Amino acid sequence: MKNNLKLKSVLAGTLVASFCLMNVCSTFAQEKPKGKPWPAPEAAVKTKNPVKADDANAAEGKELFSQHCKSCHGAKGKGDGTKAEKIDISCGDFTSAEFGKMSDGELFWKTTEGRKPMPSFKEKLSDNERWTVINYVRTLGKAK
Ligand code: HEC
Repeated sequence: MKNNLKLKSVLAGTLVASFCLMNVCSTFAQEKPKGKPWPAPEAAVKTKNPVKADDANAAEGKELFSQHCKSCHGAKGKGDGTKAEKIDISCGDFTSAEFGKMSDGELFWKTTEGRKPMPSFKEKLSDNERWTVINYVRTLGKAK
């Protein structure tokens, strides 16, 4: 009888513990809602990237990304930067297939314009720097 009681409390304890764990896990897994659709103008989508990715500008692209984008978009572009916690919509996933379908021109336009809470980089970065950072962003999807 005594043993039985002990077993029951152990079982109950395990049950409570696993429920807690499940809760914690689901809180982490909860995805933030995506922002409203954000289509770029046709002309922007068709604009070709004038900066060819090479060894020399790859390092610059990475550096620009670390300085200006990583805090929200995360080191690997997964949208899990330290600032992302405080943003109530998703910063997107730069490694997703959906993201990969966008043209360089489209990514360039979005980076140039921004949309709250994403800042505009029109003034902060030169055209050349924005194309260079887009080249780096592209490598994140391929690194998977
Ligand atoms: C303060 C946080 C923040 C910073 C810094 C930031 N972004 Fe964003 N970015 C966001 C958020 C949030 C979104 C989603 C916006 C929306 O859906 O309205 C976004 C969206 C984007 C998109 C569009 C993604 C899509 O799926 O349409 C691109 C491209 C992008 N960011 C590139 C960059 C680049 C490149 C940098 C650095 C030069 C940068 N961002 C810096 C927060 C940020």
